[in-house]
Amino acid sequence: MQQRFLMIGLAVVALACIAGGKQDQAGAIIPKAEQAHRIESVRAPSPVDEAALVEKAKAAVRTLGSALKAALEAALRAGRQVDALSVCQLEAPAIASQVSAQSGMQVSRVSLKYRNINNAPTEWQSQVLNDFENRKIAGENPANLSYAKVVGNEFRFMKAIPIEGVCLGCHGDAIGPAIKSKLSELYPQDLATGYREGDLRGAFVVVQKLAP
Ligand code: HEC
Repeated sequence: MQQRFLMIGLAVVALACIAGGKQDQAGAIIPKAEQAHRIESVRAPSPVDEAALVEKAKAAVRTLGSALKAALEAALRAGRQVDALSVCQLEAPAIASQVSAQSGMQVSRVSLKYRNINNAPTEWQSQVLNDFENRKIAGENPANLSYAKVVGNEFRFMKAIPIEGVCLGCHGDAIGPAIKSKLSELYPQDLATGYREGDLRGAFVVVQKLAP
């Protein structure tokens, strides 16, 4: 019974601390040192396990990357490249939403030279993309470029996407006429062409809000 009172007392102190008020009332039954400890544990932000978040983000990116690739390859196998283009257009955003919902993290793709304006980078994402370009020039393998940081109450992760042979039909510098005309119909402002194998096409982005 006494223990229960102590628990209630601690809860009152904790609530009072959050509300910024009456600590004295309950303070009488709780030793000062214990109060201080309790206050500390209520006020201190929960520690962030950044390594675990990075692992979770990497897994979400792997899932999105392979789902997109599977959809693209299936569409290319099934028919003409122009049809595959429609698959990219219609399925890519849906697949990203699905992976976001499953992983509990917000997963997307961005590029400095975007095709869909919804994939335009924010300011911090542009900085990371520029940084990836510089790191590639300095000799790092494009397939291994990544970034992770906790900023305020947000965990941010990015992973570079290099161009491979299969991408060139729709992002290269010698795009066939059928694809070209479909692209200009769907994306009149398209910036995502002229790439060569090994170039950085953009990056996957993972964002997760953390408890304040
Ligand atoms: C069949 C044509 C086609 C092929 C092949 C293709 N893409 Fe795309 N890609 C598109 C289309 C269409 C979009 C726009 C999707 C949208 O509207 O969200 C796009 C968008 C993207 C984006 C998002 C950024 C942006 O510009 O909007 C990235 C990143 C990307 N593609 C990377 C790749 C990579 C890497 C490959 C090769 C593994 C590839 N694509 C192969 C058609 C293609």
